[in-house]
Amino acid sequence: MKIGVISDLHIDRYNDETLQQKDFTLTLANEVNRQALDMLLIAGDISNDHMRSFRFLQALEQMTGIEIYFVPGNHDFWNQSQDDKSTWDIYNFFKNTKYYRTGSPVDLGNGWALVMNAGWYDYSYASDRFSYDRLKERSYYGGTWQDLVRIDWQMSDVEVSKKMAENAQQDLESVKDKKIILMTHVATHKAFRVPMPNRIFDYYNAFIGTSDFDSFYEDYDIRYSIMGHIHFRHKVEEGGVEYICACLGYKREWRTKEIVHEIRDALEVIEI
Ligand SMILES: [Fe+2]
Repeated sequence: MKIGVISDLHIDRYNDETLQQKDFTLTLANEVNRQALDMLLIAGDISNDHMRSFRFLQALEQMTGIEIYFVPGNHDFWNQSQDDKSTWDIYNFFKNTKYYRTGSPVDLGNGWALVMNAGWYDYSYASDRFSYDRLKERSYYGGTWQDLVRIDWQMSDVEVSKKMAENAQQDLESVKDKKIILMTHVATHKAFRVPMPNRIFDYYNAFIGTSDFDSFYEDYDIRYSIMGHIHFRHKVEEGGVEYICACLGYKREWRTKEIVHEIRDALEVIEI
């Protein structure tokens, strides 16, 4: 079985003459077909609106005819269409789609299972020189972390991270006899934070990843840990786990101007 992995498409960032939303759908669908993938995993941040992200998944599924799974990223929890959904409503909206199977891992056959959990950042990746209260402000160096104004979990980020991890543990426990692919949006390994000391990211690394998943790699047979969010394309192997970050990222971060080239470069394929 050939499984494609990609994340952080951010399809709605451009919409100019050089790059439109349909270019992402068409290019990714072409690549899925060209590589004869059996399944595609998207580790979050399709767009800045939950409905737009959902419609993208539907369109991509129709064009490829393969199973697609997804975990919502922080941007997918934003509500640009301004309907009256709260952040938890959006969470439940995704959970009720066939794409985000949190709470019901997917049996991939041959002793493999797929566990999906968005995860959340818990500030533990920041430099020690910032207090919890300082990080909680989510503003630094003239910038504000946009989740502060776009997302309202009605609880602290630390509590959200804990809650997500509790849910993930339940799912992992239910497939503990299987080889596991775990897909999150936030980073679950500090190798993926921006190297410090760094003028900006000593602070902003707080919102990159979580330490609440650390023990899962000891307790369960996780073979692949897929994540997004950080806009690196990077793989790390440690303790029998392959950590994969296959972010497409923003156009200004691309090495070329060609979406076909960049999607090809970002897309990772795992075979089980
Ligand atoms: Fe993100």
